[in-house]
Amino acid sequence: MFRARRDAPSAAAFTEAALQRLVTVYIVTGLVFLLLPGTFLGVWNLISISSRHTLGQLPPAWIQAHGHAQLFGWLGTFIIGIGFYSLSKMGATRPVAVRAGWTAWVLWSGGAALRWAANVSGWEWRTLLPLSAGLQLAGFLIFFATVSRHKRSGQAAVRVEPWMKLVIAATVSFLLALLANVGLAVHASLLGEGPAIGHELDQRFLFLSAWGFPVLAVWGFNARWAPVFLGLKEPRSGGLMSALVLECGGLAAALLGQFVWAAVLLLAAAPVAAAALRMGERAWKPAKTQGVSATFPYFVRGAYLWLGVAAVLGVWAALADAHGGLWGASRHALTVGFLATMVFAIGQRVLPAFCGMRVLYSKGLMLASLAVLNTGCLLRVAAEIPAYEWDTLAAWKLLPVSAVTELTAVTLFAVNLLVTLWLPPPRPAVTVGWRPQASGAPAA
Ligand code: HEM
Repeated sequence: MFRARRDAPSAAAFTEAALQRLVTVYIVTGLVFLLLPGTFLGVWNLISISSRHTLGQLPPAWIQAHGHAQLFGWLGTFIIGIGFYSLSKMGATRPVAVRAGWTAWVLWSGGAALRWAANVSGWEWRTLLPLSAGLQLAGFLIFFATVSRHKRSGQAAVRVEPWMKLVIAATVSFLLALLANVGLAVHASLLGEGPAIGHELDQRFLFLSAWGFPVLAVWGFNARWAPVFLGLKEPRSGGLMSALVLECGGLAAALLGQFVWAAVLLLAAAPVAAAALRMGERAWKPAKTQGVSATFPYFVRGAYLWLGVAAVLGVWAALADAHGGLWGASRHALTVGFLATMVFAIGQRVLPAFCGMRVLYSKGLMLASLAVLNTGCLLRVAAEIPAYEWDTLAAWKLLPVSAVTELTAVTLFAVNLLVTLWLPPPRPAVTVGWRPQASGAPAA
């Protein structure tokens, strides 16, 4: 009798397991957006641009379809999924959170998919553009309300640590980006001649959606976990808050159309954040690399070099871009070099545990995905400026190579995670009663 009661899964355990299934679906959805609407279309675009030797002839709606799929379809879906997972660590998880998670998933991923389809096909875009933006906003608001309500009911007053402030800032800038997205979609639908957002407005929007929530989320996540995973000392709070203020100043300047000021402020923010996180300092205890490639700390630290490159190129672009090459190089140093490297490194470290205490399928694939991604990004950033800006023939020939290299890296990353999620999790050696499999932080 007693034993039966101990072995029966509790309602809370069922809810936690359901949250893990939910997060797994968010991660798989993000990977699908990354692979096809995101990277495959990006490669197609780059090959078309390289064959015509100009960016100008490619439909802006296709470029924006790619950018939106990567920033919102991939990174946004990962962030929301991980946000829902964090509920399982706040205790007292309620089934309502799981239902909210599924509703948010339907609205969010449906909205992102509709946006991509409207941009690429041009079908009924005057209706689909605002509809997709509204669905994405509705999905995000459900997520936002669930996470904040859960915190209020589940916890007494908690000191708001610097990493939490960064995560809150990331969430607010995510919301602002989605509100701006609704405004831009309605504007294009009423006044535009096609599904693309006008160039000037799109530039401002891109600052908010590339330098805003994804960068702040990475800094917040790094501030929380770098001491654990990389063995670094605790981050400097003052430095983190200075980086946050500079970053917000840069985003505000960009929204006002002051791109030089924006770029200068973002250039100031990047090294301040890296120094505050101690990315250039020696580790004071061993990094936790069990189950993943031992090179993982180098890629996390190296990503901050890409952040610096993106910021320097951003200033150059704001001062001198003539054909989109400097902006493109800066943007991809940020999105591929910094953000994708970070997600490939940390994602393969933590997501298997978040999705049901699994073990990463292959350390070798992890290293290959990171090494190939960084090689592709180097080729891309180095070739884009001479090709687009100075029409250098050798650089035009290199760009398709960089595209296929990056596609290879993305495929290796996606395959490694998908196989990890497909295989059953290893059984625990001893089972006493029933325990949720991944309720805590990922083990060493
Ligand atoms: C992996 C291989 C990738 C390829 C081949 C690629 C290709 C391209 C191309 C050709 C453009 C048009 C402008 C330009 O030439 O610079 C572009 C724009 C863009 N890409 Fe990528 N990209 C890749 C990865 C990514 C990733 C990982 C992200 C974000 C996480 C991203 C975000 C963007 C954004 C935001 C734009 C601007 C969209 C706009 O103008 O509205 N790209 N990309």
